[in-house]
Amino acid sequence: MKSLKSQYAKARKVLPGGVNSSARFNHAIGTPFYASRAKGSRVWDIAGRPFIDMCCAHGAALLGHGHPAIDRALKKAGKLGYAHSFETEYHEQLAHELCELIPCADRIRFCSSGTEATLHLIRTCRAFTGRDKIIRVEGHFHGYHELIYIGGQPPASAFPRNRTQPYLESPGMPAALADFIIPVPFNDEAALARAIAEHGHEAAMVILEPVNFNSGGIQPQPGYLAAVRKMTRDAGIVLFFDEIQSAFKKSLGGAQAEWGVTPDVCTIGKAIGGGLPLSAFCGRAEIMDLFQPVGPVQHSGTFNAHLVPVLAGLAFLAEAAKPGFYRRLQQLEKAFHTGVDQIIAQHDLNLVVPHHGARFNLLLGRTTPAVRYEDTFCHDRAVMLELLRGCYERGVYFHDYGGGPAHHGYSVQHTLQEIGEVLSVLEDVLPPLKEKLCRR
Ligand SMILES: Cc1ncc(COP(=O)(O)O)c(C=O)c1O
Repeated sequence: MKSLKSQYAKARKVLPGGVNSSARFNHAIGTPFYASRAKGSRVWDIAGRPFIDMCCAHGAALLGHGHPAIDRALKKAGKLGYAHSFETEYHEQLAHELCELIPCADRIRFCSSGTEATLHLIRTCRAFTGRDKIIRVEGHFHGYHELIYIGGQPPASAFPRNRTQPYLESPGMPAALADFIIPVPFNDEAALARAIAEHGHEAAMVILEPVNFNSGGIQPQPGYLAAVRKMTRDAGIVLFFDEIQSAFKKSLGGAQAEWGVTPDVCTIGKAIGGGLPLSAFCGRAEIMDLFQPVGPVQHSGTFNAHLVPVLAGLAFLAEAAKPGFYRRLQQLEKAFHTGVDQIIAQHDLNLVVPHHGARFNLLLGRTTPAVRYEDTFCHDRAVMLELLRGCYERGVYFHDYGGGPAHHGYSVQHTLQEIGEVLSVLEDVLPPLKEKLCRR
């Protein structure tokens, strides 16, 4: 009989660590989760065991798995011969729809992943300003490439040096690249003002996640995003919102519409492809029109804006625009957070579950939400692994991000009954961890 262990033994002979994305190794279960299939809100492992999926493809499966609208898009793509590496009327249609929805978008281009989207847009921001440095916010994540995988999420031991010597988040990256990075704390207007006073003349952009899903779900404090908007505009620095995760989780316009703060440019990704690889970068016309063939900036690629995910993107938007879509997600959000907050209060647990739309974080060791990255150092990774393991053993799959306080969520195909089942599992798993949650 197939098992995760036997599949892992076979896979690791040919795939480093048995996976194609390092983050797919699940430390809570000791192997990667090898899936046999997924449908709606459920995923089955290779042995045929079903789980309620609370990972939802890291936020990409907001429509749930195997949604009929995506099936129809795939069939249509088959009929069109997957005409890829060509522009089609569907590309233009998707671009038009998104430029209507995303406040900062006059123009848009599509690629496959969030990592690619930030890479291309950083180049454009540099070309636009003629400056090289990047002011980035601690705790925020913008993909794995060399331009920005620096100074974002240093371990606690390297954190004290991060502002003078930005932390290289992987071996293999030239140390000299850290010279381009200026890390600042989230939610600290004074620190950003100081960074701009010192480096404004050489900074091309301020890049941030408007909701910091990648480090404990930290929300922008009231007035912070508006203050960043003003400071960047005054200094002629491009304001870059990375909405790869926040786009579509709560509304069609993304966090920029929700907070009423329009950046100069932004990236969007994950949910937009309805589960297929699609991301985009967009912004003000004068910045985006720097791309060749209008301007001088190069951005090309054989698989850019592949027709299949473009059709899936149109199908996703059509579903998300239906009146019931966000109503449904709101119902699930209310049911889940009312329930989880009750469990926390009833058992007096040291844990917060900040949320924004259909995505939430589990941050251990605190009773109030974090405001900046270092506030998340109370999170105990070993206890998190116990928590995730307990849920896994009871049929609920939360993905493990190395025990970190990263994000989880549900899809529009999850039912209130399933949210109830997840809450019962948490009611079972959390109270025995109470003492460990209080350790710090
Ligand atoms: C805010 C943000 N930016 C960029 C990325 C990278 O996206 P991808 O995994 O599609 O490369 C992620 C992925 O989690 C993200 O959350």
